[in-house]
Amino acid sequence: MARSKISVIGAGNVGASLAQFLVNRDLGDVYLFDVVEGIPEGKALDIYEGTPHWGVDSRVYGFTTKSPEIYKNLEGSDVVVVTAGLARKPGMSRDDLLGKNVEIIRDVAKSVGRYSSDAKVIVVTNPADIMAYAFYKASGIKPERILGLGGSLDSARFRTFLAMELGVSVEDVYGFVIGGHGDDMVPFIRYSSAGGIPVERLLSKEKIDGIVKRTRLGGGEIVNLLKTGSAYYAPGISITAMAESIIRDKKRIIPSAAFISGKHAEHYGISGKFIGVPVKIGSEGAEQIYDIDFQASELDLWKKTVASVNSSCDVVDKLFSSS
Ligand code: NAI
Ligand code: 2OP
Repeated sequence: MARSKISVIGAGNVGASLAQFLVNRDLGDVYLFDVVEGIPEGKALDIYEGTPHWGVDSRVYGFTTKSPEIYKNLEGSDVVVVTAGLARKPGMSRDDLLGKNVEIIRDVAKSVGRYSSDAKVIVVTNPADIMAYAFYKASGIKPERILGLGGSLDSARFRTFLAMELGVSVEDVYGFVIGGHGDDMVPFIRYSSAGGIPVERLLSKEKIDGIVKRTRLGGGEIVNLLKTGSAYYAPGISITAMAESIIRDKKRIIPSAAFISGKHAEHYGISGKFIGVPVKIGSEGAEQIYDIDFQASELDLWKKTVASVNSSCDVVDKLFSSS
């Protein structure tokens, strides 16, 4: 069987860490692209030179995107991950990045649509739900093949914080986060458990509220510590989990920004946009969306995150129609 091909656009902190994790798990050959000359080639070679110690067969290639034609090297990609763009600095929200990153995503999306329209795409660039929408509009790629990173990372943080508080293995803690990948994301306590026991029985409301808050602000916590950029190790691992589910057709349910339409649009109160929901991820991309039943207080939180995604998508629509 031919090895899979995974293309990563943007060879910065997230893109390069992701490349290492993909190679470490021997998921396929990795093609790194970046605008800064020498960076993708240098990082690709550096990662490849370490592979003899891991005994993996993945090859790693790097390409500087001097012209749009360089993207011809995307051809035959099974998965394309888009991390190109600016990252947050202290004091910046994910939405501050919108205007700057939408232009970058638009160019990248056109190239992916041109050379690799059958690929499954994971959009990471922030604000990710909104960039997934911009990518969809500009690429012409089927929306079920496009996913945005959000819930995979936010849920991993949520599980980590719950495990830290409970003093148990992260492996035994389950929990997920839905909604937009912004400060109004919705960590879903009612379905969170440790060893199958609902966390509401194990932790006080005060402790749970603290964990929910820390999860929502999890990205900012790392930005404030690093001072020069945003998180990339947990993001890289969270993207690897999504890519692995596509490449190995694992059909894992990983909350991700997915295109909402049809009966799901009615249920979730948002249509034709991407927002974080539980999704079955397999070789076809977003293979099934699950509708979560909301209680009144959860519905209030959900409506808030929907309003925020809708209003940012309106900004994208305006930017697209004005140029
Ligand atoms: P970074 O600054 O380290 O890397 C970004 C890379 O994109 C740079 O190497 C830059 O040269 C490249 N780039 C810029 N314009 C490009 C273009 N037109 N074509 C190709 N490459 C281009 O930033 P980092 O930390 O890797 O983050 C990347 C993006 O991912 C940011 O927008 C960040 O906010 C987002 N992010 C999203 C997460 C999520 O959960 N959705 C998690 C972590 C990061
Ligand atoms: C994060 O959550 C910056 O969105 C990125 O770490």
